[in-house]
Amino acid sequence: ALKKSVVSTSRRRSQIRPAPAAEMTMKGLTEGARFDNEPDTDPVLLSNRAWAKSVLSPALFRPITDQSEVRTIGAVDDVFGRARKAMKEWKASTGTPARRSLFGAIGDELARNRGELINAMVYEGLKTFPEADSEVSEAIDFATYYGIMGDRLPRDFEPFGTICVAAPWNFPVAIAAGGVLSALAAGNSVILKPSPLTPRCAEMLAECIWRAGVPRDVLQFVQVPEDEVGKHVITSADGVILTGASDTASLFRSWKNDIRLFAETSGKNSLVISPTADLDLAVSDLVKSAFSNTGQRCSAASLAICIGDVYSSDRFRRQLEDAARSIKVGLPNDISTNMGPLIQPPDEKLYRALTSLDANEEWLVKPRCLDAGGKGQLWTPGVRLGVRPGSWFHQTEVFGPVLGVMPAKNLDDALAIQNGNKYGLTGGFHSLDPDEIDHWTENVQVGNAYVNRGITGAIVQRQSFGGWKASVVGPGAKAGGPNYVNQLGYVRDVQDRN
Ligand code: ALA
Repeated sequence: ALKKSVVSTSRRRSQIRPAPAAEMTMKGLTEGARFDNEPDTDPVLLSNRAWAKSVLSPALFRPITDQSEVRTIGAVDDVFGRARKAMKEWKASTGTPARRSLFGAIGDELARNRGELINAMVYEGLKTFPEADSEVSEAIDFATYYGIMGDRLPRDFEPFGTICVAAPWNFPVAIAAGGVLSALAAGNSVILKPSPLTPRCAEMLAECIWRAGVPRDVLQFVQVPEDEVGKHVITSADGVILTGASDTASLFRSWKNDIRLFAETSGKNSLVISPTADLDLAVSDLVKSAFSNTGQRCSAASLAICIGDVYSSDRFRRQLEDAARSIKVGLPNDISTNMGPLIQPPDEKLYRALTSLDANEEWLVKPRCLDAGGKGQLWTPGVRLGVRPGSWFHQTEVFGPVLGVMPAKNLDDALAIQNGNKYGLTGGFHSLDPDEIDHWTENVQVGNAYVNRGITGAIVQRQSFGGWKASVVGPGAKAGGPNYVNQLGYVRDVQDRN
């Protein structure tokens, strides 16, 4: 199947004529900017997201409601005062039929607003339509699943109080929904603090939850400046659900040593390919895992570890190269785009990963920037060969569309490389040998170990999601799994015995 799609995509590519620069009008852009992956085309497709916001869908970007902007320490205290008061009544409804139907209504409301939510994620979060669509589905799954879990809490369960959900920009609806709905299901009130890059997505989520019937004091949507006021939100909460970089978790802890943190943090994830693997499937899964969301996923495949002959085989290299080159990079509002822009120009780490190699490495596919004179957001995917154990790229999360390929002598060597960094979020193994699969499964040190599947896109309840080692901070229950809601409160009878 992969071969087929690669062939047909490359044929299509060769038929596309790069538009002359003068024709790169707005019309051309909104119809979908087309370009070939040839070095002489350098259309300025997207200078920055402010531009995208103003040109593409102004209606969507009406100012966020004034009430949500909280600018002083005193105003934060007021928010928490209201949330703590509201929590008492809210927790009393835990386990009632009314609460059960409320979570059903939240799912319905999300489904009803699927189109609006998708638009917000495309225009504000710069996600492609299919990526945004699957986020809405995941948010609905969280509503259904955490609704059920909230119904099954132990009898003497006591919520912590008011939980702050510090939501990320890369899954501005689904991960925000997971945090908010789990905390609500446990009987907490919630302060939803959006990423400053995607406030409208988070606000739309909150609006769906309010419309379904959750009181506004129970769930508060709060935009705060990233200064002392923002810090006060984090340190005032009875618990913080964070999805973000390890550095952010450390920062929060430096602000408040005994902070109750439920954090899923960084990853440096790899997929091991055995010589026994179905190579077509392995390459297809690898490419999807590396480049979906433009590589901006904590779960993304950043490394392929190739055992034995796989590493140097022509077939593997050609398939990987063709598959990476056939990805159509473009604006997110173009339905034919496979990979959209970065949410902002690359930071220092990602820029290094996209533009320079370490000793002994070489490009199988060299990334190119298609906007803002090489410093922009629209990059073609990159594949670097010859990444060495212990090297910068082996150890560093770069959060963008770059995949490193590493050779391994045998399965144990591959496992040593795969386990050989401080993170442990996702990992994959492609093999058709049951003994190898058993050996890998027993020895890999990751929260989500996937066999003969891509390593992104965990499904609520089926593949609960979370990390090991430096990829997790806190008790470590996995999102979308059976213990997530339970960890967001005390169980009174156990405490009494202690
Ligand atoms: N939960 C998201 C995934 O599995 C991050 O890719």
